[in-house]
Amino acid sequence: MKITIKKNGPYMVSGNVPLYTIETDISDDGFPVSYINKKPVKTGPNYALCRCGKSKNKPFCDGTHINAEFDGTEVAKEDIFSTSLQNLETEDFKLMDAPALCDHTRFCRHAGGIRELLNKGDDESIAIAKEEAKNCPSGRLTLIDHKDNSTTESEFEKEINLIYDNGMKTDGPIWVKGGIPVESDNGKKYELRNRVTLCRCGQSKNKPFCDGSHWASEEFQSKFRAKWNL
Ligand code: FES
Repeated sequence: MKITIKKNGPYMVSGNVPLYTIETDISDDGFPVSYINKKPVKTGPNYALCRCGKSKNKPFCDGTHINAEFDGTEVAKEDIFSTSLQNLETEDFKLMDAPALCDHTRFCRHAGGIRELLNKGDDESIAIAKEEAKNCPSGRLTLIDHKDNSTTESEFEKEINLIYDNGMKTDGPIWVKGGIPVESDNGKKYELRNRVTLCRCGQSKNKPFCDGSHWASEEFQSKFRAKWNL
């Protein structure tokens, strides 16, 4: 199984990678808490997923990127996770945080946010914080419990999920699960990671990864990049 990124074109998915649609379930405070409505999408053994956001046959590429003169230039570093890590240590936990990977799906904002929950430290808050880290689709967040060294990383089947963001009422990123290699046409190999979110609206400033541009304004993105020094 492999995903190859075509220059200014689609993601070529090979090796019978199962494809699903999935939605975020939104809590009363407006932030997601789980995934719902996972449904399979019929594909052949190899398929091309639209990366420019302009296909009339989404999620598949229909060649529109050519006339649209899509600029799919990849700017993210191969080792974006390891080089952007900013860990938060508490007495009981380590929160591994790679902000450069944020896709703004916002699981970590529920119930006051993951940092506040860790600061509170009661059992209920910690249980919610663990769920938030586990559900983060991009893999930006991982929580490690010092007590037993357990991690919130899930054991995923190798598959691709197309996220629909029920909070923002818009399509979200392509969620690549289980450690499927992602490579560029030119041979650039991205870190093999258990959770990866790829841009499918064509607007990300962090291609090939999603940066939330499918709903977040340019102003929001600039502030976020400045805050995290990205
Ligand atoms: S990448 Fe081909 S139509 Fe979008």
